[in-house]
Amino acid sequence: MRTVILTLLTALGVAILGGFAFIYSGVYDVGATRPHWPLTYWAMETVRMHSVKAHAAGIVPPPWIAEETKVVEGTAHFAAHCASCHGAPGVPPGDIADGLYPRPADLKNSAARYTPGELFWILKNGIKMSGMPSWSDHGDYELWVTVAFLEKLPGMTEQAYGKLVIESMGRGGRHNSGDPDEMPGSMPGMDHGSMPGMVMPGTAMPAMTVPEKSNVHKH
Ligand code: HEC
Repeated sequence: MRTVILTLLTALGVAILGGFAFIYSGVYDVGATRPHWPLTYWAMETVRMHSVKAHAAGIVPPPWIAEETKVVEGTAHFAAHCASCHGAPGVPPGDIADGLYPRPADLKNSAARYTPGELFWILKNGIKMSGMPSWSDHGDYELWVTVAFLEKLPGMTEQAYGKLVIESMGRGGRHNSGDPDEMPGSMPGMDHGSMPGMVMPGTAMPAMTVPEKSNVHKH
């Protein structure tokens, strides 16, 4: 019995030392140009999926989530802040998406993968070590209308998206984070309808706005 315990302890010690040697040796390539090993990829995906599901448990969407007006509001938010990385129907992702690893996913299947509560959690918290930012400073209301949009995204045609974008611009394309400090007084009536991120589908022009977290004017 003693020998068994000693052997196990030695094996554990060697494994720990090996782990440290690996970390400090620099052999691991952190470059975004080198894809993960299939095992690393699987581990990260599985951790992410289970983490989101566990942390979002119990988050209930507001009753208006399927209302058309909310979807229109969500479109404005999505076009201004998300399409640059994730693209939209008829709108290819912008330059920044090409260099990111992992590549920002096409979100047309996200609503099938995640519940509205889980999507809300992802938007609010972001995803560590992936390039997906947390949008918690945008306020819950704005995140929920974006989820309302994501729920309608599966199967959305280029034409339907274009119509939503135009509708949201008709309303000024403005969205409010619900945070009075969010709209700096120096930018009265800041309007997403005129922002370059608001790219019309079919124009082949990638969304150009990349949200700058350090920028005072997040909108
Ligand atoms: C700077 C680029 C960037 C921006 C801007 C961005 N994302 Fe992401 N997002 C990512 C990356 C990278 C991932 C992780 C990619 C992967 O592994 O699927 C991700 C993941 C996600 C996921 C999870 C996808 C999945 O299948 O697990 C959702 C949902 C999502 N983003 C929604 C949004 C929404 C909505 C917005 C706008 C409010 C947004 N993202 C803005 C880069 C971005």
